[in-house]
Amino acid sequence: MMDTPDNSLTAVMMRLLSGFRVTQLLALAANLGIADLLADGPQTAEELARATATQPDALYRALRALAGVGVFAELDGRRFTLTPLAELLQTTHSDSLRAQVLFQSAEQYRAWADLRHSVTTGAPAFDHVYGAPHFDYLTMHPASSEAFNQAMRVVSRQVAAAVVEAYDFTQADRVVDVGGGQGTLLAAMLRANPALHGALFDLPHVVAGAEPVLRAAGVADRCEIVGGDFFTMAPPEGDLITLHHILHDWDDERSVMILRACAQALRPQAKILVIEAVITPGANAMPTLFLDINMMVMNGGRERTAAEFERLFTAAGLRLTRIIPLRAEASIIEGALNG
Ligand SMILES: C[S@@+](CC[C@H](N)C(=O)[O-])C[C@H]1O[C@@H](n2cnc3c(N)ncnc32)[C@H](O)[C@@H]1O
Repeated sequence: MMDTPDNSLTAVMMRLLSGFRVTQLLALAANLGIADLLADGPQTAEELARATATQPDALYRALRALAGVGVFAELDGRRFTLTPLAELLQTTHSDSLRAQVLFQSAEQYRAWADLRHSVTTGAPAFDHVYGAPHFDYLTMHPASSEAFNQAMRVVSRQVAAAVVEAYDFTQADRVVDVGGGQGTLLAAMLRANPALHGALFDLPHVVAGAEPVLRAAGVADRCEIVGGDFFTMAPPEGDLITLHHILHDWDDERSVMILRACAQALRPQAKILVIEAVITPGANAMPTLFLDINMMVMNGGRERTAAEFERLFTAAGLRLTRIIPLRAEASIIEGALNG
């Protein structure tokens, strides 16, 4: 018999408070690769414990707790099976969130535990906990950088489909994805537009992993890869520049610097597309307002309203031309050179 959910205020608050427990249970399952181990059918906790070098009863209890929130289901004989939610933890699932779980439950989790530092000082808690800004830290820690890049690919894949569906690329010859990570969004734009050429611009150690992504999409021959720092050099020239989840990493001063560098790379009549969430009145906490806090904690950045984007564009010598909502949790904020 199913328990009736307790919806008293106390119970609701206790469920909210338990978020950290769910995060760590998901992290455990993702780290141990439990969803991959169940790909061929149910297994007992003992079998899973043997495969993961864990203690059978402790693993049983962790998986039973996950089954209690719909991730895995418990069968008779202490056996566990996949559920649709658990399938998202499989490495090869087309919408796999395993990389997101691994990324969010590691350094990000520890930085959030120091949220009060950010709110007290306005500075990123990440720097306080790890002694270096997030992107510098990633440069120095290849395993964390790989986890971050994989997690970004998941987000990019989701938004890329919405971008190519919503925007007309036929006027452009060359699109430059600034801070484009390992090329997931650029690959989607080039794949959907066979006449379009592209350039990927990101930090050298990040673009070093881009070639396989572009080759797998069949667009490597139409794409230049450029490693560099957008605070010290202008990106490659293009008639469309995209910035997905870039400005939200930075405060206003740094964001204007990035936009100015991009403005230098824009050909006349070119457009710049900032692809990010736009905060509207009544915005939902999940995901936009939580992402806003994430940016505060991790990088000292923020999500912005349309008026705030307009101010950034103006300060960088650009004008905001229109905002195109996407079916993903983001919009295209389009800008052009003044005049
Ligand atoms: C939130 S990620 C977004 C990546 C990509 N646009 C996507 O959506 O998957 C921010 C990106 O900015 C890049 N980045 C950070 N600092 C940079 C810098 N100074 N110059 C160039 N790229 C930088 C990071 O390496 C990372 O790939």
